[in-house]
Amino acid sequence: GAPVKFDVSKLEPGEMKVVEWRGKPVYVVRRTAESIAELKSLEGSLKDPASDTADQPEYIEGAERSLNPEYMVLVGLCTHLGCAPKYRPEVGSIPTSDGSDWVGGFFCPCHGSMFDLSGRVYKGVPASANLVVPPYSFETDTVMVIG
Ligand code: FES
Repeated sequence: GAPVKFDVSKLEPGEMKVVEWRGKPVYVVRRTAESIAELKSLEGSLKDPASDTADQPEYIEGAERSLNPEYMVLVGLCTHLGCAPKYRPEVGSIPTSDGSDWVGGFFCPCHGSMFDLSGRVYKGVPASANLVVPPYSFETDTVMVIG
């Protein structure tokens, strides 16, 4: 499949859009400064906070899992059995598996797996791996190329 371009300037802070790439949904989220700041504090609630076993490009690292922390790019397929996790940015909208406060992320309706805004999987849910980060780059400050 050919690479797909996406202009991230279309996204408001906190907004997510779905881009199709190789027949898969790719989620692009514009994270707020508050949600970026919270990522490190979630580590105790996550199965693989450093993404040691995650499927992601080698140029992606850290809690942000992104080239530009403001924009998160994930393959929108649950790593349990492949359902499409729902974007749930609203703070407190989901009871988490460990009783911590939900600070926004992705919730899989099929069997209840939860992922943070970096696609990192919570403890105590069926999925064991973080959501996949596809290969991507920035052609300009605002034009992202996925693939
Ligand atoms: Fe997502 Fe099972 S497919 S929790």
